[in-house]
Amino acid sequence: MNLIRRPRRNRQSAVIRDMVQETRLSVTDFILPLFVMEGQNVRSEVASMPGIYRLSLDLLLEEIQECVDLGIKTFDLFPNLPESKKDKYATESHNPDGLYLQAVRAVKERFPDVMVMTDVAMDPYSSDGHDGVVEDGKILNDPTLEVLGKMALAQAQAGANILGPSDMMDGRVGYIRQVLDEAGYYDVAIMSYAAKYASAFYGPFRDALDSAPKFGDKETYQMNPANSREALIEAQLDYDEGADFLMVKPALAYLDVIKLLNDNFHLPIAAYNVSGEYAMVKSAARNGWLDGERAMMEVLLSIKRAGANVILTYFAKEAARLL
Ligand code: PBG
Repeated sequence: MNLIRRPRRNRQSAVIRDMVQETRLSVTDFILPLFVMEGQNVRSEVASMPGIYRLSLDLLLEEIQECVDLGIKTFDLFPNLPESKKDKYATESHNPDGLYLQAVRAVKERFPDVMVMTDVAMDPYSSDGHDGVVEDGKILNDPTLEVLGKMALAQAQAGANILGPSDMMDGRVGYIRQVLDEAGYYDVAIMSYAAKYASAFYGPFRDALDSAPKFGDKETYQMNPANSREALIEAQLDYDEGADFLMVKPALAYLDVIKLLNDNFHLPIAAYNVSGEYAMVKSAARNGWLDGERAMMEVLLSIKRAGANVILTYFAKEAARLL
C-alpha cells in the first residue's frame, strides 16, 4: 500500500528514534529534596518513601558528596524538628543556631559550588502544623509574612542561593524580595511555588517531617485542584513581585498547568514531583506491579515534556545513575 505518511519510518531503529527524540532529561534538570534531622550518624527511613531518609548533618554531607559525584548540583533542604522545637510563630525557623540554618551553612562551607535551595514556610516549625500564624482557627496572611521575612533573611545570611516560598500566602514573594534587597542580598533568587495545590500527594512528606496540620486542612491557602485559570493569576502576581522561577506542584496530576505557565511566562518553569508521586511508583514497583525504573524515567520525561525545565524530585539520585 502506498501511504504518503508512515510515522513508523522514524521509529524503526534505536538510532533514528534517538535522533528524532524531542525531549531529553539531563542530570542538570534535577533538584534533590533532602530531609535533615538532629543527631549524629542518624539515618531514618521515611516509611512511606522507601529509599528516602532523614539524615543527621554528618550523613547529609556524605549524601551530598555522593550526589555531586553523580552530577547533581542543587539541593532543597527541609528540617525534621522534634515537637519541643515547634511553636505558634515558628520561632526556630530564624534561630541562627538551629538545626536548619546550621545545615545550610555547613553545606555551603563544604560545597561552595553547590546551590542550596531553602524552604520558606512555617509548617516544619509550627506547633499547629500549618503554613501560617493561626488565630481562632484561621490562618492569618499578613502576620505570616513577617515570619517569612525573618526566615528568608536568616536563610540568606546562612548562604542559601535560592529561596522557595512554599506556603501560598498572598504577597509573600514581593515581601521576601524587599527584605532581601534591603539587606543587600540581590543575588539570592526566589523560586516561587506559584501554583501549589491542596493535594493528597503531600502525605508522605508530612510523615517525613511530622508536619501534618493539627486541625483542618490547607484549603484556604493552597489552590483548588479543579482550577487552572487561577494558576495564571498566581503566576502573574509572583512574576510581578519578582520571582525568578515559577513552580507548579504537584507535577503529575498538573501537567496541563505546567504547560499553561510555560506557554504564558518567560521565566524558567519548575515542577515538584512530590512525595506521593514518588511513593506511588515505589510501592507499585516493590510489589512487582510495574517496572520502577521505566516508570520513574517516564514520569520525569513527561514532566519535562509538559514544559518544566527544572524538576524537584526524590528520584534525582536514582535517575542520575541511569542517565
Ligand atoms: C509545605 C510543603 C509541603 C511540601 C513542600 N513544602 C507540604 C504541604 O504543603 O503540606 C510537599 C512536598 C512533597 O510532598 O514532596 N510548605
